Amino acid sequence: MKTKVTEMFGIETPIFAFSHCRDVVVEVTNAGGMGVLGTTRMSPEQLEAELKWIDDHTKGRPYTLDLALPNKLDPVKPMRDRDIVLPKEHIEFIERILADAGIPPLPEDEHQKFMESSPGYTLTSRGGMELIEVALKHPQIKLVVSALGIAPKEMIDLLHAKGLKVGALVGSVHHALRQVEAGIDIIVAQGMEAGAHSGDIASMVLWPQVVDAVTPVPVLAAGGIGRGRQMAAAMVLGAEGVWCGSIWLGTRESELSPDMKERLFAARSEDAIQRRIFTGKQCRMLRSAFTDAWDAPGAPAPLPMPQQGMLVSEARARIERARKKDYMGYYVGQIVGDMKEGTSCRSVVYEFLTEFLESVERVAGRMAQA
Ligand SMILES: Cc1cc2nc3c(=O)[nH]c(=O)nc-3n(C[C@H](O)[C@H](O)[C@H](O)COP(=O)(O)O)c2cc1C
Repeated sequence: MKTKVTEMFGIETPIFAFSHCRDVVVEVTNAGGMGVLGTTRMSPEQLEAELKWIDDHTKGRPYTLDLALPNKLDPVKPMRDRDIVLPKEHIEFIERILADAGIPPLPEDEHQKFMESSPGYTLTSRGGMELIEVALKHPQIKLVVSALGIAPKEMIDLLHAKGLKVGALVGSVHHALRQVEAGIDIIVAQGMEAGAHSGDIASMVLWPQVVDAVTPVPVLAAGGIGRGRQMAAAMVLGAEGVWCGSIWLGTRESELSPDMKERLFAARSEDAIQRRIFTGKQCRMLRSAFTDAWDAPGAPAPLPMPQQGMLVSEARARIERARKKDYMGYYVGQIVGDMKEGTSCRSVVYEFLTEFLESVERVAGRMAQA
């Protein structure tokens, strides 16, 4: 396929695969698309190890790095300050949920690891810059995308000076225009159907609005895309390619445990709900006994970012460790209702392209008949 973005990066197919899992990044990159590595949970040392591994397995092909750099972020504190920083009511509430479910504390060494961390540090401009310094040592990275806000000017200038393109995820025309003004080369327009942080405007409305507002800047369509028919619709609406996150979670390469995958395969689209309880900002995630506890009468309101992440990160690790399936949650979009069984990244890309071609031909055939 030939679009502005395949030309921009020299890739074969304009399918961008967001994942926190290096195996997904490698597989989609090698299948001719563009793997996008999410960095929100990584220290610079971890990122270096991941990037080396990706370089070693992708034969010089280009790939992308994703940072989340929120414009509005409360000061980041280490976990050991938890009892000072977080309201007592919230800590007691979390402990009550876990105790009621019979979920034990982490073993002392794992708990200590949490205490040494500062959830949210990589969301700060300083944390982001440390990751960028690592990324610049890996020339296969051709694009850096920021989510949740405008990247600092010095970061955009540095990336441009090194010959990289800079992109941004947006959920509204207003945000898209601000990003273009800041010098962004490529916009990812993400509809509210999407997994994780998501806005309130549906993809069908958002994509053409953003395309019209930012032309000639290329737009990738995101949010609710998991198959070729949806890709065809996105391209018809003016996108130069697609950016998907949820669909890779069901592949054998994904980072999810078999328990979590099983839950995703059993879910319906309406089970992918928007809540603030994982990060403090609105995210789409799988409904679970944990989300239900926060919806129950008397539950406290979620805290802002990054305090909410500080509050729930260890609780989520405890739930995973206890394999308490009905309490397990993960970010996922409405496309989860179509994800019914395990697959592989390669077959997802192949099926995307096959169904895309069939759809385009079907519509073209109808035009010819008319
Ligand atoms: C599990 C998961 C985690 C995500 N984390 C991030 C992230 O850290 N940074 C980011 O820019 N987008 C993140 N996203 C959003 C994706 O980049 C993408 O825009 C979104 O998944 C597209 O919608 P879809 O889920 O319907 O495919 C995440 C999505 C999922 C499913």
